[in-house]
Amino acid sequence: MAYSSCTLLLIILCFHAIEAQPLHTAKLLINASNKLGKQIPETFMGVFFEEINHAGAGGLWAELVSNRGFEAGGKNVPSNIGPWTIIGDESSIHVSTDQTSCFEHNKIALKMEVNCDSSNSCPLDGIGISNPGFWGMNIEEGKKYKVVFYVRSTSRIDLKVSFVGSNDGVKLASTNIKLGNDVNASTWRRVEHVFEAYATNHNSSLQITTNEKGVVWLDQVSAMPLDTYKGHGFRNDLFEMVAALKPRIFRFPGGCYVEGKWLRNAFRWKETIGAWENRPGHFGDVWGYWTDDGFGFFEGLQLAEDLNALPIWVFNNGFSIYEQVNISAISPFVQEVLDGIEFARGSPTSKWGSIRASMGHPKPFDLRYVAVGNEECDTQQNKFIYEGNYPKFYDAIKRAYPDIQIITNCDASKEPLNHPADLYDYHQYPKSSNYMFNLAQVFDHASRIGPKAFVSEYAMTGKESGRGNLLAAVAEAGFLIGLEKNSDLVEMVSYAPLFVNNNDQKWNPDAIVFNSHQVYGTPSYWVLSLFKESSGATFLNSTLQTNSPTLAASAISWKDSINGKSILRIKVANMESQTVNIVIFIEGLESSVHLSWPRKTVLTSSNPMDENSFSNPNMVVPRESILDYAGKIMNFQIDPLSVTLFDMTMY
Ligand code: AHR
Repeated sequence: MAYSSCTLLLIILCFHAIEAQPLHTAKLLINASNKLGKQIPETFMGVFFEEINHAGAGGLWAELVSNRGFEAGGKNVPSNIGPWTIIGDESSIHVSTDQTSCFEHNKIALKMEVNCDSSNSCPLDGIGISNPGFWGMNIEEGKKYKVVFYVRSTSRIDLKVSFVGSNDGVKLASTNIKLGNDVNASTWRRVEHVFEAYATNHNSSLQITTNEKGVVWLDQVSAMPLDTYKGHGFRNDLFEMVAALKPRIFRFPGGCYVEGKWLRNAFRWKETIGAWENRPGHFGDVWGYWTDDGFGFFEGLQLAEDLNALPIWVFNNGFSIYEQVNISAISPFVQEVLDGIEFARGSPTSKWGSIRASMGHPKPFDLRYVAVGNEECDTQQNKFIYEGNYPKFYDAIKRAYPDIQIITNCDASKEPLNHPADLYDYHQYPKSSNYMFNLAQVFDHASRIGPKAFVSEYAMTGKESGRGNLLAAVAEAGFLIGLEKNSDLVEMVSYAPLFVNNNDQKWNPDAIVFNSHQVYGTPSYWVLSLFKESSGATFLNSTLQTNSPTLAASAISWKDSINGKSILRIKVANMESQTVNIVIFIEGLESSVHLSWPRKTVLTSSNPMDENSFSNPNMVVPRESILDYAGKIMNFQIDPLSVTLFDMTMY
């Protein structure tokens, strides 16, 4: 049941007043013996990366130039060159597009006709074009940036390439590129220069200017910071945020992004591999923005590897949101998938594996899971087509790669599937905190015969969740405790969406919020961090006795990888607006085993609607304290609306 706005107001007003009186009590009985516990799958906690909210383009993918090949305006000319802008007026410069690029998959190039020169009205700083990146490029003093572009010209000409503050025009780095007498209009030349910035501005542009007369064509203009994760092109701060969650699986590249509203705008993996200059890019019509596809299929696999997570490729299965390919025409889509698997894990001498090798990764990627599309089995009409086409994919993949685990998106939690699958996909976006919390029980009575569940998308949404607040996070923690309890059936879990560029939010809420230079986690992100040790841990047998309907608790144990010591962790999610008094009884431990180093970690705040922000990124974050006692019987006060961990070392 959702909180109405009046109830919410009451919760907010009463929050502190009621805090002092623990009305609810609970007993948590834990048997800490590993023998009675069950192992949570190694793959349990993962992440789902979708190109939504500029997660990749203008996000994790560190490319600073937006629309680097001038293709975003379409294949026809004249075309819109946005977000590029022109520096100079009509009398001095004429900019247009034509189809003369040297790259066969993206023919659009930019033509710049300059009619002024230094002795004839050209401004000192020149005229030309400017790219604002994705709501401003982050240029930082002392950092290096590699700029590459392709150019041809009718005559010798000097170009100035600069990073400039968008708001103040202050230059942050600049160089002159001289195109000498050997230039000609028919030969493209590649220009590369590494800049070291001598000042910082988080809202900068890249400018290519001249104050000489002439005609110049430009194409494939890229600006990459040299400082990316392992030089793989991933923005360090965003990579670290994901890595800190220790994800074991990495689902990508969507979501609806994989499908497109129309198939012509779906994610086509073959268009996203190979040299970046030759990638056509595409308009992701579901989330309404262009991507140059710098972050493509290869980069997704690479990112999974860098995160030490197993990739899960969601492939397009001939479905878009408005179109479905009939079974009689599905075989090219099946072949496309087989080629994609070969690209990911085929030998470096195979047709597609050799392209992967040429991109610097001869070793196959560890692709063990693929998902047959996304959310297509949810209406009667689509289900019929989905189930008709599905065996074509399933049989072909299993024939060629018997070990690959195949994920259907038909929900097997309520009724058995009519087709074979290793896992089934399960999504939930409730708009009420109570509903979210109570979903903890959704798998309690689901069939244990048949495929396992992959809860690949979940989050509390709607008004109650604000832009990602404490209330949503606690409700989600309750849900996750339920999934842990059912982890004999639930093999993997991932929150969605993972990222949002704060300048263009297409979906709310999200786990990680960023702009050109800042990042913070929403409370939901911090809940994920509280569950990161669950993968591969032992779920201990425990019973919660309580008169509170919205209290959940679980206990896990695992061996610390650094000191080899066993840790016992108790998690409690309290959705009540009141303090709960909990008594914990731990049994099943040998008498020689002691509990020590007790630590308590609490995620809470004074208001259910509290959120983090760029100005206050740590308003709702886990806070750790040392406790002075750990024993087999303990009594704790659990804060209202909180997620609390108790960690103890067992030795
Ligand atoms: O996570 C956002 C979207 O929600 C995904 O693209 C889609 O699978 C779901 O409907």
